[in-house]
Order: sequence, then C-alpha cells, then structure tokens
Amino acid sequence: MKIFLDTANVEHIREAAGWGVVDGVTTNPTLIAKEGRKFEDVVQEICSIVDGPISAEVVSMEAEGMVKEAREIAKIHENINIKIPIIAEGLKATKILSKEGIKTNVTLVFSSNQALLACKAGAAFVSPFVGRIDDQGGDGMIVAAEIVQMLENYDFDTELIVASVRHPVHVVESFMLGADIATVPYPVLQKMVKHTLTDVGLKKFLEDWEKVPK
Ligand code: E4P
Repeated sequence: MKIFLDTANVEHIREAAGWGVVDGVTTNPTLIAKEGRKFEDVVQEICSIVDGPISAEVVSMEAEGMVKEAREIAKIHENINIKIPIIAEGLKATKILSKEGIKTNVTLVFSSNQALLACKAGAAFVSPFVGRIDDQGGDGMIVAAEIVQMLENYDFDTELIVASVRHPVHVVESFMLGADIATVPYPVLQKMVKHTLTDVGLKKFLEDWEKVPK
C-alpha cells in the first residue's frame, strides 16, 4: 500500500520523506493556506522533495474554470494531479482533463456512488474522506470498503486514496481493505512509528549492552 502525506508543510514532508516511506503528497486549499506562502511556490517545493504523485486543488466552481486552472497547475511539474471536487461541474472537468492526459484526484467524496461517477469520468484517484464521515456519526471505512469492491468488480484504473485519516487505526483499516493509498497527516505518521514496547525494549537492550565486557 502506498502512503501519501496529507500536508503542505515542506519541513514535515522533508522529514517524512527521509524515512523512505512517502510515495506522494496530497494538499488542499486549507492545507496550503496554513503555510502562508504562495500556492505555486509550495507545490513546486513539494515536487522537488517527493518523486511521486502530488495533488493540488482547483477552486473554480465551473468546469471551464476548473479545466483552465488545472492546465496551469499541471505545468508546474509532471507529477502533479489535479484535485477536483465531486460536483456535476467537477465530473465534466474530470472527463475533459482525463482525455488530455491530465491526472485528476476527485475529492470531497462521501459516498460510493460519488466515487463510481468519478471513476466513470476518468479520475486517476478518488478520495473518500473517512474521518469527516466518522465525525457525522457514519462509518467512513464502510464507504471505503464499498469503493474497493466497486473498483475490483469493474476493473477501473482509478486508485483509491483513503483521505481525512485521523488516527493510525484508519491506516490499518485501509490496508486490511486493500486500499491503494492512505493519505496520512504528519502527526498520524509519527504515531505509526511509535510503540511503547519498542521504547522499553530498546532501553533494555542499551542497558544490557553496557554489561557486555569491552
Ligand atoms: C486529502 O485529500 C483531504 O483534503 C484531507 O485528507 C482532508 O482531511 P481533513 O478532513 O482532516 O481536513
């Protein structure tokens, strides 16, 4: 399973990329805004750190505007895919862009029917927001599981990105489902590497090593 980092923070991306576990990066307008830097500068820097798919989102509400924005964003780097919201205009834009060979990541997906439409329109990636579904009292991983099944049943080329990941259990559930990708916030990635028993075991090994005659 691929791990993407869900952030626009280049320090966090650089650190996690150094661990050798980051296959791509997803951003959104909220994540970009947190950085207080120009969109193009941030995206360009991310592309220089991670050699894999990098998602950058359009903000137009009409297909024509989305396509125009997408074409400009795609020029920044060959690894960029364009995040398009799952609305009717977004589907139109996804179809046009996929015909042009510009990869899209259809975002703000909260149901498997939305995911089906994104796949049919030619999305390269589809991103169900499991954490936000959980926040509303639903079960985001059920939606993710439905999408995994749908992709398998009909052999779509679209890859599933489990998004809005809130904790390490979401990641475990993602790979148990066979999701292609989980996009993980940096604090969740930090939690994934930690285990109390690792710390306790390591401390003991180092203490015992001191007793070995030198
Ligand atoms: C990534 O594609 C999404 O934009 C992101 O995972 C949303 O996460 P949030 O629900 O924590 O904002």
